This record gives sequence, structure tokens and C-alpha cells, in this order.
Amino acid sequence: ITVFVPRDSAALSVGADAVAAAIRAEAAKRDLPLRIVRNGSRGMLYLEPLVEVETPEGRVAYGPVTAADVPSLFDAGFLTGGEHTLGHGLTEEIPYFKKQERLTFARCGIIDPLSVEDYRAHGGFRGLENALAMSQAEIVKAVTDSGLRGRGGAGFPTGIKWNTVMQAKADEKFVCCNADEGDSGTFADRMIIEGDPFCLIEGMTIAAIAVGATSGYVYMRSEYPHATATLRHAIKLAYDEGWLGDNIHGTNRTFHLDVRVGAGAYICGEETAMLESLEGKRGMVRAKPPLPALEGLFGKPTVVNNVLSLCSVPIILDKGGDYYRDFGVGRSRGTLPFQLAGNLKHGGIVEKAFGITLHELLYDFGGGTITGRPIRAVQVGGPLGAYLPPSQFDLPKDYEAFAAQEAMVGHGGIVVFDDSVDMAQQARFAMEFCVAESCGKCTPCRIGSTRGMETLDKIIAGKNVDANLELLADLCDVMVDGSLCAMGGMTPYPVRSAVKHFPEDFRKKQHAVR
Ligand code: NAI
Ligand code: SF4
Repeated sequence: ITVFVPRDSAALSVGADAVAAAIRAEAAKRDLPLRIVRNGSRGMLYLEPLVEVETPEGRVAYGPVTAADVPSLFDAGFLTGGEHTLGHGLTEEIPYFKKQERLTFARCGIIDPLSVEDYRAHGGFRGLENALAMSQAEIVKAVTDSGLRGRGGAGFPTGIKWNTVMQAKADEKFVCCNADEGDSGTFADRMIIEGDPFCLIEGMTIAAIAVGATSGYVYMRSEYPHATATLRHAIKLAYDEGWLGDNIHGTNRTFHLDVRVGAGAYICGEETAMLESLEGKRGMVRAKPPLPALEGLFGKPTVVNNVLSLCSVPIILDKGGDYYRDFGVGRSRGTLPFQLAGNLKHGGIVEKAFGITLHELLYDFGGGTITGRPIRAVQVGGPLGAYLPPSQFDLPKDYEAFAAQEAMVGHGGIVVFDDSVDMAQQARFAMEFCVAESCGKCTPCRIGSTRGMETLDKIIAGKNVDANLELLADLCDVMVDGSLCAMGGMTPYPVRSAVKHFPEDFRKKQHAVR
């Protein structure tokens, strides 16, 4: 009998290790032979720790399980899928899971993350095998045809980026993976690294073969120790089994991969600051051009892609660009693992094709707020993303549709607030975040964010509200137009959207004084 107890950070944070130990101890006490696999997450975080048991009909789910529940699970015969108040039936029939379209996360939660054999048994390395038999241009064409766009947030076409690096002439090229997942409410990069690390290794190796790079780095945020340990372990196994190194899968191709851990600065998720940090320098933004694709790490042509972009590549090379392209709408092709966070009943990962609306994500999947109060605002795309009111919840998830509303899909993070939120305080928080995280290189961001925070303080205190709102709007224009990177350039988006959609929150004190 095989029992699955996840080992990802989300499950660990709510006691998965204790649950695994309790299951092991209870089985020994009852003299029942069982095998525990520490899998990754199925993405239903509201059910963690989610324990699953393999049955002839499929895996049966129980959750959220605590160590104290374990004896009663045994009493109920959970090892053969017996009924229990924590039972949810077959995992893959749970509507939250069943309604998804899992391409990138297809294996996550299913396999043992640190078993090459399991990875292979579930289609792993098939994309790389195909790539090894293709020319560089053919690989780049498959990625271009798939319509894959940068999943870090900017949505730049991945195939075009790879083509620039492939065409560049240099004695050395690099592939760097941006795993500095700093956006508030996002956790998809971490979850896939912890649940299916070979997928990232395979995607990076395919990228390297496509562009002619021989080494690569994963830049991991320091807050992700479990992901770092899992990835390091997986890299070692990939070397041992001949999927990395100087003779990949017996083809004489070379790709060396290593992990570097950041020191906790949000700005190091900006690609050029990340490259500086990888070079051992302070994480400061570089001016573009030159693009990293031409002069990146140590001045060499470099592919810089987000974890999710690279993890989408193996399935594209396995099933073809057209297969991936068939999902999605408009110019937003394929799927995105949306991350539901904040005040929602059912937080977790929902991988769906582009075109799904916020309403479906918030209510059909998220189940509304956990407080039971109405949703008032949703921040989409991290701390630099706009706040959207319920009147915009029918907006389809599509890069262009969001951009048209001065909003962004970003990295797929969605943070939900109920009607107790004070949007003037949220606007102030956006400026405060920029004050803390600005790299300090350019004036609109470094000074502008501090002035923005001060101006918002005056507005919140009810001082000269009209004049200060005008000043704030002017300052936002300067930051958008004059900042060197997205940090200062996009901080105004949450501020402007809060003022636009929730104007009453900026006049509370003013009204009170009157
Ligand atoms: P960008 O639009 O300047 O660039 C996008 C990517 O395309 C970069 O890698 C750039 O080097 C590349 N590129 C542009 N033209 C190219 C060409 N002709 N050939 C090859 N490559 C080319 O956007 P940027 O500043 O890299 O990213 C901003 C985005 O980052 C924001 O939209 C935001 O959504 C996202 N973001 C994500 C965070 C996260 O935690 N994932 C945190 C903060 C922001
Ligand atoms: Fe640095 Fe901010 Fe300027 Fe970006 S916008 S370069 S973070 S000071």
C-alpha cells in the first residue's frame, strides 16, 4: 500500500512531517506494511496536509489531516480508501482539481519529486530527448510556434528571446533561471521546484541546447530553503543519471547547472539586478540596452527566463508547439498556474488556459472569502499590479485585455481583500514597499516613492485632499514615465487603481472633519 504525504513548504508549514511520522508509527503499531511517498503538492492548499492513498480506482484524498487524526483514519480503513469525515473521494474527481488544465503542473503532486525513474515514467525527459535530435533552429521554432510568453510577468515571447541568444556570436553563453519569486501572493515557482524539480532541469537543458549555452544558474530566493535543497538534490541525481554534465544522455552535449541563493532583495527579481547579484555584486538594475540576450551574465549572451516559462518548455518539446498553442485566447496562448491567495476559502494553484475570468477563479475555485464578507478588491500580478473592483471581475485573463485596463496578469498571483480593506492604506503600502525595495539607481523611484508615501499620509489625514490627490497623480505620471525599471515604473499602478476605483477611501478623514 502506498500513502502519499506531501513534502512541499506549504504542507510542511501545517505539519506534514508530523503526519507522516504518525502514519508510520500507527502502521508499525498495527503491523500494517505500507510505503510512504513524500510527493509535491496537488495545489489544493486549503486541504493541506493532503494525505492520499493509492487504490485500484485511483488515489483517494484525506485532508486537512493532523497527526491526531491518524489513528481514526486507520480505524476507518483509509488504507483501502475507507470513508472518514476528512475524506474527499478520488483526488482527481475533486472539482477544484478536475476543472483544471494542468500542462506545466501535470506531474506535480503525482510523482516522487526526487525519483528520476518516476519522472521518466510520467513522460519526463521526453521533450529533452526530442530536442537532442533536433537542430537549434527547430527547437526555437517549436517554442515560438507554441506562443509561450514570459511567465515572470512581462509576457515577452520566449521563442523570440531564445532566437536572439541563438543568433548571438560568442565563446560562451548562459541560461539563467529567475526563481526569485518576490511577488506577494505568488508561490507557483516554489511549488513546482519542490514538486517536480526535474521539469525545471529539463526545461533549462532544452533552452541551453537551443541557444548553444553550456552552463546555467538557478537564482533562488533565500526565503525558499526547501525548494533550494530539493533542487540541489535533483541536480545531483540528474548528473548521476547522465541528464546533466558533459555527455548528456550519451550525445556529447554539455550543460552544467548550479543553484545560487539571493540575499532577500525584491529587486533581484528584475533580470539585470539578478545578473549583477549572480556576478557577486550588489543587486542594482542595469540600463537596457544592452539586452541580457546579447550581453547578460559576465557580458555574455544569456537566456533569462522565469521558472514557469522554463517548466512549460518540456511539454512543448514533447507534444509539439501546436498542442500548447491550442490552449488560450488571442495572443495569450497555453495555460497559466494562477495562485489564489489572501482572503479566500480555497487558496491554492489553479492551472487554466488563458481566457478564464477573475470571477471564475475567485468564486468557482476560490469559493469566495474565508470571512464570509463580500470581496471588495483583488490585487492581480503582485505588489506592482492594479487593484480591481468587482465590476472588473469579468475581465478574461489575457495579457492584452489586462493591459488595456492598466492592469497586468503578471506572474499569476491574485490576492483577495474583503470589504474591511482600506484602499488608501493599500495605496500607501505600495509606495512604502517601493521605498523599502528601490535599488536607488534612479530618482523617480528612489525619491518619488518617499514623496508618494508622505503625500498619501497627508491625504489619509484629510489635509488638502484635492490638492494632494492632484500632486499624487502628477508624481505617479513621473514615476511611470521616468523610472528605469518596473519597480518604480509600476508602483503607481496599484496607487492609481485604488484612487480610481475606491475614491471614497481617500476622503474618509475629510468627510469626518466636515
Ligand atoms: P521587459 O518588458 O523589459 O522585458 C521582458 C523580457 O524580454 C526581458 O527578459 C527582456 O530582456 C526581454 N526582451 C525584450 N526585448 C527583447 C528582444 N528584442 N530580444 C530578446 N529579449 C528581449 O520587462 P521586465 O522589466 O523584464 O519585467 C517587468 C515585469 O516583471 C513586470 O511586468 C512584472 O509583471 C514582472 N515582475 C515579476 C515579479 C515576480 O516575482 N515574478 C516581480 C516583479 C515584477
Ligand atoms: Fe532602481 Fe527603482 Fe530605478 Fe528600478 S526604478 S532602477 S528599482 S531606483
